[in-house]
Amino acid sequence: MQREALRVLASEPVGPYRLLRLARGRLDPGMPGQFFMLSPPGHLLPRPMSLCLAPPRELVFLIDPVGKGTRALAEAEPGETMTVLGPLGNGYCLRVEKPLLVGGGIGVAPFPYLSHALGEPPALLGFRTAHHAAAAALVPNAEVVLDPTLVTDVMPSDYDVFACGPEPMLWAVARRAPDAQLAWEAPMACGFGACYGCAVEIGGELRRLCVEGPILELKASRWRKVRRREAA
Ligand SMILES: Cc1cc2nc3c(=O)[nH]c(=O)nc-3n(C[C@H](O)[C@H](O)[C@H](O)COP(=O)(O)OP(=O)(O)OC[C@H]3O[C@@H](n4cnc5c(N)ncnc54)[C@H](O)[C@@H]3O)c2cc1C
Ligand code: FES
Repeated sequence: MQREALRVLASEPVGPYRLLRLARGRLDPGMPGQFFMLSPPGHLLPRPMSLCLAPPRELVFLIDPVGKGTRALAEAEPGETMTVLGPLGNGYCLRVEKPLLVGGGIGVAPFPYLSHALGEPPALLGFRTAHHAAAAALVPNAEVVLDPTLVTDVMPSDYDVFACGPEPMLWAVARRAPDAQLAWEAPMACGFGACYGCAVEIGGELRRLCVEGPILELKASRWRKVRRREAA
């Protein structure tokens, strides 16, 4: 893990999302599923972002501008710099026989890098609208479903599933594929285990999702979110 001020190369629209290209500097891209803490220009608090692509000399992130931090990241101008810390957390385990990527919405963000590492396996991606589904073009061999069809309605069995997406989708995937590797989210202030802001309960113990995760297998962990006052 390293911290460095990286230069913005470009911010490109992909449907309602933005593809933020940063000069890589000396940072290691890490494993697919790991994340970085990005400090938007002019903001003190960093935001966690999965690495989307790692072309030579670049780190690329797919951003859903849902609030003020992500909007500031998406609107960063070429030539500006932002502080980036990472890679953080664990990554997906890539030693599987028959991979299938299953994602929803902005959950596709780590899949381009993951797909490349796995040799471009099939992917099943769900989106709210055709406009959101523009992000599927970043993932090779993707089959797209749109609401009201859910990825779990059409998910085949007997695959080694890698999943990322909204929490209800992760629970539904885990019911269909108990061995699936699931990328979970929690609000994160530090990203490296110092603040307990991301605490979840795993097997009756308080664990930090930024350190123990964000990738967890449900069958092994049976985790649940901790209410904010318990996590303080
Ligand atoms: C490990 C990890 C990887 C992530 N990767 C990506 C990515 O690649 N691309 C991307 O666009 N987003 C990603 N996110 C989510 C992103 O970090 C949050 O959307 C962002 O921090 C929100 O900040 P904001 O200031 O824009 O919004 P805020 O104004 O802080 O919040 C906007 C809304 O999002 C909710 N929210 C904020 N943070 C989270 C969170 N971590 N989990 C669930 N809900 C949240 C808030 O409750 C609120 O409803 C990731 C999160 C984690 C934990
Ligand atoms: S985000 Fe600070 S401990 Fe996980």
